Amino acid sequence: MNDVRATPAAAAAIAAGARVLEAGGLVAFPTETVYGLGADAENPAAVARIYQAKGRPNDHPVIVHVAPGADLDYWVTDIPDAARQLAAAFWPGPLTLILKRASHIPDAVSGGQDTVGIRCPSHPVAIALLSAFKNGRGGVAAPSANKFGNVSPTTAQHVRDEFHLDDVEEGAIDGEPACAAGLHVTVLEGGASQVGIESTIIDLSRLVTHGPVLLRPGHITAQQIADVIGQLPAAPDQAAPRASGTLESHYAPHTPVTLVDHDALAATVARLQAQGVRVALIGHGCSQLTAPLGDSGRLLPADPVGYAYGIYAALRALDLVQADVILVETPPQEERWLGVNDRLRRSVFGSAGVLARFLREAPRHV
Ligand code: TXA
Ligand code: MG
Repeated sequence: MNDVRATPAAAAAIAAGARVLEAGGLVAFPTETVYGLGADAENPAAVARIYQAKGRPNDHPVIVHVAPGADLDYWVTDIPDAARQLAAAFWPGPLTLILKRASHIPDAVSGGQDTVGIRCPSHPVAIALLSAFKNGRGGVAAPSANKFGNVSPTTAQHVRDEFHLDDVEEGAIDGEPACAAGLHVTVLEGGASQVGIESTIIDLSRLVTHGPVLLRPGHITAQQIADVIGQLPAAPDQAAPRASGTLESHYAPHTPVTLVDHDALAATVARLQAQGVRVALIGHGCSQLTAPLGDSGRLLPADPVGYAYGIYAALRALDLVQADVILVETPPQEERWLGVNDRLRRSVFGSAGVLARFLREAPRHV
C-alpha cells in the first residue's frame, strides 16, 4: 500500500484529527480491519457522541485503540503473561484483548463491565493518529464506523455513505469536519482496509477460571493464538463478556441476504428469476453464475484472506442495485474461514425464510 501519510495534506489531516479528538470530537479513521469511529476514551461526553452517532445501545462496550509502545498497565490491571505475549506477537495488528479495566476507564467505554477491550492497530494512518493524539499517551475508543447492526465500512467513502456526510455538507472533503445528525465527524482517508473484517477478540480477563476465550473470530486464528500462548482459546460460554458483534443479527445490509450451497445455486437463481425476483449474487472461486448478473454479481477469491478483504464492500455494493435478495454462495466450512463464516451467519440471521417466501409468492416484477 502507498504510504497514505506521505503527502503534506494527509499529514495535516491526521494532525487536525488528533486535535479534534483532544477537543472531544469524533474522528472516523482507517484501521487494517475496518474503519473506526473514534473519540477520546477518557472523555465520557465524547464517547457518548459515538453511541449517539451509531444509534448503539449505550451498555455495549467499545474497544480502546492505543499507539505502538503504549503502556498497557495504564489501561488494564491483572495483566497475565499471555496478554503480554499476544501483544508482543500480534501488535500492531488485528487482535483485541479483553482484560480487567483500570479504575479510571469510564463506564461509557466498558459498558459498565469490569473489563476493557484494547488493541493497537497497524494501519499507518491509525498509528499516526494515535501517536499524535495526546502525544501517543491517549486511547481512542472506536467501534466500527457504521450504524448499529449494519455492515462495517472498509473505505472512507463507506463511512460517508453510512452517515450521509456527503449529503449533509456539500462536498465534504476528507479530513474536513462534516455534519451527521447534528454531530460533526471528521473522516480520515486511508484507502481500503487490508484485512476487511473486524479484529479477533480474545478474552483473557478470566484466564485462571476459564482459560482464553475466543469472543470473535478474525484474521488471526485460534491456532495462531495457541501457537503463542500454548493454549487453544475456547468458544464463549454463558458468562463470557458481552460483545455486540456476537449478536445473532449483525453486519447486515438492508437487502435480505441468504446463503446457498454451491450445488443448489444455479437452480435457485433460475427459480427465483423465473418468479421475477431480482437476484444479486456473491460467488467465490470460479463460480460461473456471477458474470451474467452484471452489476448484481460479485466474484470473490476462494481464499479466506482475499474473501474477507472483499466481502463487506461486495455486500454494500449489492445493497445498492435494488435486488430483492442477495444470495451468497456458502464458503468452505474450514477453520481458516471461521471469521468470514461468523460474519455471514450474522448477516443472514434476520433474513431467515426469505427464499421460501419468494418461491411461494406470486411472481414479482414480471
Ligand atoms: O477491528 C475492530 O475491532 C474494529 C476496528 C475499528 O478496530 N472495531 C470494532 O469495534 O469492530 P465494534 O465496537 O464494532 O466491535 C467491538 C466488539 C463489540 O462486539 C464489543 O461488544 C466487543 O468488541 N467488546 C468491546 N469491549 C469489550 C469488553 N470489555 N468485553 C467484551 N466485549 C467487548
Ligand atoms: Mg461493529
